[in-house]
Amino acid sequence: MPHPLLGTTSIDEHPRQFLSGIGTVFEEFGASTQDSGNISYGIQIDEERFFVKTAGDPDDPEPFLNHADRAALLRNAALLSRSCEHPALPDLHHVMNSPVGPMLVYEWLDGELLGAPRSLRDDPQSAHQRFRRLPAAQIERCLDQIYELHRDLARIGWVTVDFYDGCLIYDFSSGRLGVVDLDLYREGPFRNDIGRMFGSSRFMAPEEFAAGSMIDKQTNVFVMGRAAAVFLSDGTPRLTSSAQSHSEGLCA
Ligand SMILES: Nc1ncnc2c1ncn2[C@@H]1O[C@H](COP(=O)(O)OP(=O)(O)OP(=O)(O)O)[C@@H](O)[C@H]1O
Ligand SMILES: [Mg+2]
Repeated sequence: MPHPLLGTTSIDEHPRQFLSGIGTVFEEFGASTQDSGNISYGIQIDEERFFVKTAGDPDDPEPFLNHADRAALLRNAALLSRSCEHPALPDLHHVMNSPVGPMLVYEWLDGELLGAPRSLRDDPQSAHQRFRRLPAAQIERCLDQIYELHRDLARIGWVTVDFYDGCLIYDFSSGRLGVVDLDLYREGPFRNDIGRMFGSSRFMAPEEFAAGSMIDKQTNVFVMGRAAAVFLSDGTPRLTSSAQSHSEGLCA
């Protein structure tokens, strides 16, 4: 008997309805957590979990990108996933059609997202700060994974767009790092035709702010360097007042 999810090529119902009928939807990522307009689902069927990503509601007027553009980005994400195999990249098991566009069925990654809204990023209990407090060698192992993946992607022409800590899922118990949401990566080089591009400025290269600039492999390198700076340096202003006066004394 075909698998209820992986063996289906097209559905007539809404994805939520379909998924609820074949398994347990244990998580939904929509407007309350994402600003993309996409809606994604965590679904469990028997013992196996999947992450199913859709372009969301075609009539939602809120998102920056319209539904057709969001659906096109999901197709781009499928192209990227199929072009590269790397342990940090979740497997794309299947793509199916629905009345609201493509549904991408990925391997479910256990772990916590390393990105956090600015208001929570400095919270010592956030995954972002717990990750930064790991032994440097462990953080370096994760950076190696990220760099190896991006070297592989760059070799086949993919240029980073909108890579940031919100693309990283880290499992603190197994030490596995996953890289997700590479939907905006583009086959490069290409010219920046919008000025400030999508992305978190903490991770962006200067050319991503300047219309007319070339976005290419060097952009990848800058973004990768920013990842090291964010996770390994003491760049976050976390000095206590006594540490601050001490460091000011040292600089004096
Ligand atoms: N394979 C996966 N397994 C488990 N959780 C995942 C997986 N991929 C993504 N997630 C979780 O789902 C959330 C939404 O996924 P994703 O970032 O791909 O969606 P998006 O709609 O493009 O979001 P954004 O608005 O940040 O662009 C992620 O922030 C992450 O917490
Ligand atoms: Mg996204």
